[in-house]
Amino acid sequence: MRGTRGLPRCLYLVPPTSCLVPRLSSLVPRRRMSSVAEIFETMDYGPAPESDAPVREWLARHGDAFGHYVNGGWRAVAADALFDVANPATGKPLARVAQGTAADVDAAVAAARAALPAWQALPPHARARYLYALARAVQKHSRLLAVLESMDNGKSFRETRDIDVPLVARHFYHHAGWAQLLASEFPGYRGVGVVGQIIPWNFPLLMLAWKVAPALASGSTVVLKPAEFTPLTALAFAELAHEAGLPPGVLNIVTGDGETGKLLVAHDDVDKIAFTGSTEVGRAIRVATAGSGKKLSLELGGKSPFLVFDDADLDSVVEGVVDAIWFNQGQVCCAGSRLLVHEGIAGRLEAKLRDRMETLRIGSPLDKAVDMGAIVAPVQLDRIRTLVQQGVDEGARLWQPSWACPADGCFYPPTLFTDVAPSSTIAQVEIFGPVLVSMTFRTPAEAVQLANNTPYGLAASVWTENINLALDVAPKLKAGVVWINSTNLFDAAAGFGGYRESGFGREGGREGMWEYLTRDEARGERDEVSGARPAGVDAGPPPQIQDATAPNGERHRASAAAAESARPWDLGPRPAPLPPIDRTPKLFIGGKQARPDSGYSRAVRDPQGRLLGEVGEGNRKDVRNAVEAAHAAAWARATAHNRAQILYYVAENLAVRADEFAARIAAMTGDGAGAAREVDAAVSRLFSYAAWADKYDGAVHDVPIRGVALAMHEPIGVVGLACPDEGPLLGLVSLVAPAVAMGNTVVAVPSEAHPLAATDFYSVLETSDVPAGVVNIVTGARDALARVLAEHDDVDALWYFGSREGAAAVERGSASNMKRTWAEWTRRDWRDPRTGEGREFLRQATHVKNVWIPYGE
Ligand code: NAI
Repeated sequence: MRGTRGLPRCLYLVPPTSCLVPRLSSLVPRRRMSSVAEIFETMDYGPAPESDAPVREWLARHGDAFGHYVNGGWRAVAADALFDVANPATGKPLARVAQGTAADVDAAVAAARAALPAWQALPPHARARYLYALARAVQKHSRLLAVLESMDNGKSFRETRDIDVPLVARHFYHHAGWAQLLASEFPGYRGVGVVGQIIPWNFPLLMLAWKVAPALASGSTVVLKPAEFTPLTALAFAELAHEAGLPPGVLNIVTGDGETGKLLVAHDDVDKIAFTGSTEVGRAIRVATAGSGKKLSLELGGKSPFLVFDDADLDSVVEGVVDAIWFNQGQVCCAGSRLLVHEGIAGRLEAKLRDRMETLRIGSPLDKAVDMGAIVAPVQLDRIRTLVQQGVDEGARLWQPSWACPADGCFYPPTLFTDVAPSSTIAQVEIFGPVLVSMTFRTPAEAVQLANNTPYGLAASVWTENINLALDVAPKLKAGVVWINSTNLFDAAAGFGGYRESGFGREGGREGMWEYLTRDEARGERDEVSGARPAGVDAGPPPQIQDATAPNGERHRASAAAAESARPWDLGPRPAPLPPIDRTPKLFIGGKQARPDSGYSRAVRDPQGRLLGEVGEGNRKDVRNAVEAAHAAAWARATAHNRAQILYYVAENLAVRADEFAARIAAMTGDGAGAAREVDAAVSRLFSYAAWADKYDGAVHDVPIRGVALAMHEPIGVVGLACPDEGPLLGLVSLVAPAVAMGNTVVAVPSEAHPLAATDFYSVLETSDVPAGVVNIVTGARDALARVLAEHDDVDALWYFGSREGAAAVERGSASNMKRTWAEWTRRDWRDPRTGEGREFLRQATHVKNVWIPYGE
């Protein structure tokens, strides 16, 4: 998720070459032409300030003061309960927020408790829709959030814009997926209940996302207390959640300092505490909650090692160090704050580091050309200064760049200590500032010993070009996360957390979800081995979502009823003798509508035999074109996250047009009520596979060698889909979505009897950023087209849902290139998620590749 490695950051800031050319040529007659390297050396940057005006306006709208956000509203607080929040880069006040009292915490917990039953009773899809809405809200307001975070915390806008806020959105998207899959992936479990969450100031909004997203996805309700230095983005987030229609009481934000935190921890009606912050406070919370029955997760400090072996690429290492310890001014729990270098290269690396430190830029966090912003608060600056002085007093050698920090505000320069004794204070204590301590080792065993010489166990980085060495060292490091030739990589799909004094519990991924779940006694435990599905997996009644753009189930039903009473074919008297505008849809190939090669259309009729429309009659040539387009799409290279986003977008655009689709299906099948439910189920199905896109993980096999085998799920390639007649829309979506979620491209032949839902779907695909060629649709005679697909050498797999004869023909036809086939002639209930979606489809959409990695020196 971080920027490109191995390049000096300044490269991103170079003006376009065209600006350099005139300056260069004008120099030629007077003196020797500078080399490009020299220009890089000497070139200065102008400031590139980001405007703070939108944030100032937002603060002014709130009167520069905030109460707590409780039960879906701002709680009134007395003026004398407010305290100032300052901008660390200027020292000037930004706004005032409230110090949460016992009454405030009681009110917030009571609101969360009251909201819990209804929130927990929502179908998983409904909660997924809310989380999705939160992800979208974060994206839509990303600039405001990034500027606000930068002003409140002092971190550079470049980081808040490119790292913090995108990761926040990613977390909500990912957890929309877990919400969707909760019943099937965690059978027998439910959300833990009312959760108290206490977060620190170093990644204010990101820590909120890490905590709030899994809690809400699990069906729990939340009282969150942001850090006293940095509460503003949490309050802005509350406003976004409010606008997204999150029900009152599901998310409550109470501001205040450690005293407010203590009240939340001690509250009797809280079922779980999730905390990120100092080990000291984490320990106090462990003691305070002991024996209370509260579930607890703690993400605490670290003193993470950054190991550099003598074969490492030193230029990459230097950039890695920049990311490890000067990212966010070193105020990162997993900062690589202990540089452990092979003795033979220590001198060279330290010299390179000093050169690089000399070029780092520190200044206004809103200046897009700075590498480092401000330290969060004067108290933290004092702590850094005190510990650095202690390092000097204990005999370590200090080095700082020659330039000076800005005089106003809380700034501290990047700092390197050498000649550090492993037992010294600066080698042992978390400084939480831009201070790197360097030590040397001679052998890998000594490196591991030094690395583990800490009470913490959060993260570690290993730098070597030797994979054997890297994979030998990684398991020996006492750390929850190990990065090889990289550092500070985070993703919502991969759990993050530590052990020993770094705490316990994980945030992110499946393991992070477990932290917010408890056994559902009411429903009893289910057989996870046999995979027996719990009762109630069904999407249930459609969710009541207060999102004006997403028609809810009630509206679907109302419109379907309307469709029944005023059927579209009862046209009544026509006011003027105008000919109808022809809407004969073509085929959908390579992202465009294409005329059928045959030049023929086929009629589509309602159950009474009346003409509803016409669709193109596809043939062998159209199939060939579609297969070619499917091969040309580079979809397998899209990240799982991208694929998920696009599927969500398809769902969103389908939901917006749900009424129209329901009416269309009702007209074709004559089943008005069923049509509305079918559209709801199609939207939910798209959500399911968006959710699955980044969760159908492979495995690491314990093979009988010294090493591991990575079992990776790979897409199959181009998949032909012959869709069932029943469920004109849902049958298509149920096959297309799992295939594309796993990275395949498809050529689909939709329902032969009712193809108009599929042809209406073209424009949903067109408006949802689905890349050209990923989904191709050829209408016409299903069995004949399926046979063409079966015999096509460039089709890698074929799914067929139709007649027995059709299935047999497909299986016979597939023998030419021995493609995988999945052919069924028994009817499925596509509306039921137990039969219409899930792992069976994902298995069919992938194959497993095992990669063996022996290791050891
Ligand atoms: P802290 O641990 O005191 O504060 C973190 C959060 O806990 C804040 O929201 C605070 O209000 C709350 N809190 C404080 N005392 C509490 C209590 N008794 N019960 C419940 N909640 C309480 O961290 P602080 O004072 O801001 O920073 C001190 C040091 O902690 C830093 O210099 C750094 O070394 C470490 N730290 C580590 C973090 C990490 O991510 N691992 C984050 C922040 C600080």
